[in-house]
Amino acid sequence: MTERRTRPHTAERWGSKLGIILAVAGSAVGLGNFLRFPVQAAQHGGGAFMIPYLLALLLLGIPLSIIEWTIGRYGGAHGHNTAAGAFAAIWRWRGARYVGLLGVFGPWVIFLYYTYIESWTLAFSYFSLAGSYGSLTDQASMSGFLRAFQGLTPGGSVANVGSACFFFLVTLGLNLLVVAGGIRWGVELVSKVCLPLLFLFAVVLVARIFWLGAPDPARPEWSVLNGLGSLWNPDLSALRSSRVWLAATGQIFFTLSVGIGAILTYASYLNRDDDVTLSSLTAVGMNEFAEVILGGCLVIPVAFAFFGPDQMAAIAKGGAFNLGFVTMPLVLNKIPWSQCFGGIWFLLLFLAGLTSSISLAQPVIAFFRNVYGWSRAKAVLVFGLISLLLSQPAIWWLGRGAMDEMDFWGGTFCLVLFGTLEVLVFCWAFGLERGWREIHRGAELRLPRFFQFVLRYVTPAYLLFILGFWLYDNAKATISMSGVDPANRPYVLATRCMLIGLFAALALSLRMALHARRRIQELQR
Ligand code: ALA
Repeated sequence: MTERRTRPHTAERWGSKLGIILAVAGSAVGLGNFLRFPVQAAQHGGGAFMIPYLLALLLLGIPLSIIEWTIGRYGGAHGHNTAAGAFAAIWRWRGARYVGLLGVFGPWVIFLYYTYIESWTLAFSYFSLAGSYGSLTDQASMSGFLRAFQGLTPGGSVANVGSACFFFLVTLGLNLLVVAGGIRWGVELVSKVCLPLLFLFAVVLVARIFWLGAPDPARPEWSVLNGLGSLWNPDLSALRSSRVWLAATGQIFFTLSVGIGAILTYASYLNRDDDVTLSSLTAVGMNEFAEVILGGCLVIPVAFAFFGPDQMAAIAKGGAFNLGFVTMPLVLNKIPWSQCFGGIWFLLLFLAGLTSSISLAQPVIAFFRNVYGWSRAKAVLVFGLISLLLSQPAIWWLGRGAMDEMDFWGGTFCLVLFGTLEVLVFCWAFGLERGWREIHRGAELRLPRFFQFVLRYVTPAYLLFILGFWLYDNAKATISMSGVDPANRPYVLATRCMLIGLFAALALSLRMALHARRRIQELQR
C-alpha cells in the first residue's frame, strides 16, 4: 500500500449522481470551449477541422474519459484520491506512484496560469458593467486597454499590474474557498449553481447574436449566418497538414479535461458500484454541446458580421485572447444594452473558468491530504500559498513567454503523455479483461464489445503516434527553445526550471512521506 488508507476524507462522497456529472462537465466546459475551440477551428481549415476533431473525440476522448472515471473510482475504493495512489493500486510496480504523480503535477501547472486568465474575465465583467471601456471603438484602442491591464509594455516588461493582481487574488481566493468547502458542499454545490447559469448565459448570447442578422445594411453579405458558414465550410486541403491533426487532438484533451488527472480525482469520490459509463458519456455530451454548438456560434460569426471575412481571418490568427478580450467587447459595445451583454459574456467565461479551475486544484488538495493526512483547511492553505508564489511568472513574465511555457508543458505535453500512460497501464498492466469488468461494475450502459479493440489497440496506437510525431518533429526545437526570442530565453528557462523543481519537490515529498510511514509501521511491529 502506498498511501494512507483510512483518512477521514476518503469518506467524502458526492451528494448525487447529477452532482458529479455536473462537476465533471464543469471541469470540461471552460475557457477552451468558448475561446480556444473557435479559434482552433478557424485557423485549421474551418469545417475540415471537425474531421480530425470528431475522430479524436471517438478514438481518444471518449475512451480516455471512461478509463479515467474507472481508474478514479477503483483508486477511491482503495483509499486513494489522486492519480499517484490510483496508479499504485492498479499497477504493481514500485515506480507506479511516481508515474501517477504526473496527474497531480499537470493540473497544478495548468492551475497556475489558468486562474490568472480566469481573473481577467472577472475583471472584464466588472469593466464592462462599469462602462470602463465603453468609449473604445476600434481594435487598436481595445487591444491597448487589454495590454495596459495586463501591464504589458512594448519592450515585453511589465508595469502597472495592480488591478490585474487584485482580480487575481480575488479569483484565487474564490477557488480556494470552493475547494475548502469539500466535494459535496464546495465543488458539487458550485457546479450545480454555475453550470446551469453558464448554459443560460451562453444561450442568451447566442440568441442575441443570431437576432443581429446582418448588422450593417450596406453589407448584407456580412451576416452572422454567413459567419457561421465561413467557420464550418470545410477547406479539405487543410487535412494534409499534420498541424491540423495535432491541433484537433490537443483540443480534445484540453476541452474534455482528460489526461489531466482531474476527472480521475473527481471519480475517486464515487461509491464502488456507481455507474461510470453513462455518467462519463453524459458529461462528454454536455461539453460537446457547449463547445461545438454554443462555442461555435459565438465569437467567429460575430467577428465576421461586424468586421467582414478578411478582417475576421486576421482576428482569428491573433488568437483566443484577441477574440475574447478585444473583438468580442468591441462588438458587444455596438449593440443596445452593451454593458449588460458585455458583462454576461465575461461572466459566462468566468463561470466556465471557475468550474474548471476548481477541478485542477482538487487533485493537489487530495494529494496533500492522502500523503500527509492533513486537514482540508491546511491542505487548501498550503496549496494556496504555493500557488500564489508559483503563479508569479505567469503574471510578471507574460510578455516573456512564461505562460506559453507553462501551457505547453502542463496544458499540452503532460496531458498527452499522461493520457497515453493511463491507457497503457489500464489495458496492459491492470489488464483489459479485468478493466472491462471494472468499467461495467454498476454500469447503466453496456459498451459494445468492439470497444475493447479500440481501448487495447486503437487508442494507444493513436496516442503513441502523436507522441512519436511530436518527438520527431518538435522535441529538439522545443527543448532548445529555438523558436523563442533570445531576449526571452532566460525567462522561459527560469520558468522551465521552476516546473522541474515543482515535479522534483512533489516526488521527493511523496518519497519522504512513504519512507516515514514505513518506519512507523516497522516500529509498530
Ligand atoms: N477543460 C477546460 C477548458 O476547456 C480546462 O477550459
